[in-house]
Amino acid sequence: MGRLGHTTAAAGTCTMERSTHPACRLTPGRAATGDDTVAVARLGAVTARMNTMAEELSTGDLTLHALRVSDAPELHSIFSDPATHTIGAGVVSDIETTRDWLRRRDERRSQHGVTWYGVRSMAGTLIGTAGLFIGRTGMEPEIGFEIRSSDQGRGHGTRAARAVVTEAHRAGWTRVWATVRPSNVASLRALARVGFVADRTEDDERGGLVYLRHEDR
Ligand SMILES: CC(C)(COP(=O)(O)OP(=O)(O)OC[C@H]1O[C@@H](n2cnc3c(N)ncnc32)[C@H](O)[C@@H]1OP(=O)(O)O)[C@@H](O)C(=O)NCCC(=O)NCCS
Repeated sequence: MGRLGHTTAAAGTCTMERSTHPACRLTPGRAATGDDTVAVARLGAVTARMNTMAEELSTGDLTLHALRVSDAPELHSIFSDPATHTIGAGVVSDIETTRDWLRRRDERRSQHGVTWYGVRSMAGTLIGTAGLFIGRTGMEPEIGFEIRSSDQGRGHGTRAARAVVTEAHRAGWTRVWATVRPSNVASLRALARVGFVADRTEDDERGGLVYLRHEDR
């Protein structure tokens, strides 16, 4: 079922250089930033046509379940691990920050159907996360994924990303984006295996960022 009744927010200022950026195309003059609240508010009209992504997915020996705030202690052991959590602003030291992140994921799921999953092994251990978020690519969501360092290199990241993107297309998102630093070879390889193709590279305050896209066909 799609969601209805969301309002459209006022436009701000676009800082993206490329007019082809989906957020800027739909909202000329608007800033496109990570987890952008303006983009999130404007998504209402788009997500009303989408289905909510499934609560649970399975792929081979992995199960993926929509994360809840009650998963905070387990998730925090990943977010606070410097060998694993090398993305975003880096290691999260405070569990309350992890809880806030989970609350936002819950909100995004109920408002827009985009879902972030905990990835569990057959034994039920949380080994990572994978999901969609509303970020730099505005009206078209991005995928994010992370596998605990001790479980990396066994195909889990590739399988989890494939399960998420397949479910995203089923839910109605015809294009899913990924944004990756050129140095993140593991992520680029996993995404290529899933079928993402490079679209362009942009610079932000931290250097180059590769934009990749996955189309439903
Ligand atoms: C990206 C990530 C999720 C991949 O998870 P994973 O379970 O190790 O991935 P896979 O085992 O499916 O391997 C994917 C590919 O990367 C390669 N790879 C894995 N670790 C690698 C490393 N450290 N250096 C180079 N390549 C690596 C694998 O060989 C594989 O390529 P291949 O299929 O061509 O052989 C994981 O490295 C991670 O959590 N990194 C930190 C968070 C992150 O960067 N997330 C992505 C943000 S864009």
